[in-house]
Amino acid sequence: MSALGKGAREFKLGNVTLNGRVFLAPMAGYTDTAFRRLARRYGAAMVVTEMVSSRALIAGSDKTNDLMEFTEPERPVGVQLFGGDPSIMGEAAARVAEEVKPDVIDINFGCPVGKILKCDAGASVLKEPQRAGWIVEAMVKATEGKVPITVKTRAGYDTMDNAVFELLQAVEEAGASALAIHARTRNQMFEGKANWEVITRLKEKAKIPIIGNGDVKSAEDAYRLFKETNCDGIMIGRGSMGAPWIFEEINHYLETGKPMKTPSLKFRIGVALEQLKCSIEVKGSRLGLLEMRKHLTHYLKGFEGARDMRQKLLTSDDADWVVKALAEIHEQLSEEDTLLLTPVDVPAGTA
Ligand SMILES: Cc1cc2nc3c(=O)[nH]c(=O)nc-3n(C[C@H](O)[C@H](O)[C@H](O)COP(=O)(O)O)c2cc1C
Repeated sequence: MSALGKGAREFKLGNVTLNGRVFLAPMAGYTDTAFRRLARRYGAAMVVTEMVSSRALIAGSDKTNDLMEFTEPERPVGVQLFGGDPSIMGEAAARVAEEVKPDVIDINFGCPVGKILKCDAGASVLKEPQRAGWIVEAMVKATEGKVPITVKTRAGYDTMDNAVFELLQAVEEAGASALAIHARTRNQMFEGKANWEVITRLKEKAKIPIIGNGDVKSAEDAYRLFKETNCDGIMIGRGSMGAPWIFEEINHYLETGKPMKTPSLKFRIGVALEQLKCSIEVKGSRLGLLEMRKHLTHYLKGFEGARDMRQKLLTSDDADWVVKALAEIHEQLSEEDTLLLTPVDVPAGTA
């Protein structure tokens, strides 16, 4: 199998040039600053914040401001907004451009969750694709074209009909710089297989870059998505959970056609520890550990040789202990180890 070879790393988004074509997908509750820093380090061409409500942003909510915070090494970084009202989305975009200064502002036209649909946001625009155009138009105007406005949507609302093609045309005419497509309908939520055919068809019609998304779990999947759909870029969501190095694996494969060596257990624990420390530094011990737990379940998957230890690491409320235990395990492991065999001390009350 030949790789995509030269050019595999080139991508232009409006006036922003990216060093790659493989992006981290926005994931509420997961793609916080600690995780984004790792994704960028391991080669994600761009990362995006967790989605932010345009209404809450205008109201000046502290939580919203926290969600939008990023560090310079995360650039290029996008802030993702959701909302259904063009004027509010315009005002929110202007504020983000002025105060937060991301490289890109992305719009969530794909969220399938009831409370988002109720405020006419997320995937609800697929019922009324023209509105997507009005929202983009208001945001492009409010930001004076200084920040690329991109959109992320799904293959349809209830079924794969013409809506997503109408949406593409509406947002292109309104000045969107790219469209990312999660190849499932709103109705499918996250069930069933992503239908990449819709990505191929969008790419055939599009004047702007199309970013394909859905079910890429390995470098081989990434290669197939590019090859089968001819898309310009791809986005990885769940495949990066507990594995932010997947971007390096994909970039390597796209450039050379060869897989990288599977990362050692020591390496994986080392990355998990780093993310945990960063999470605690940014959010404090309690919240930092709590929010890291779901990541840890992914990092520690398959540690069947140490089921008890895994359980304790995932249930302890003592952040200092979890950091210490992971550091000890990391220290004890050699690059060749595939199973966690040596128990470390577990103080009473941590599990
Ligand atoms: C926990 C979780 C949170 C998500 N949050 C967002 C979000 O805030 N904005 C968004 O556009 N998509 C969100 N998504 C959708 C992903 O960006 C992506 O489109 C989807 O997971 C399919 O890609 P994958 O198969 O690579 O995971 C979320 C997905 C998951 C699993």
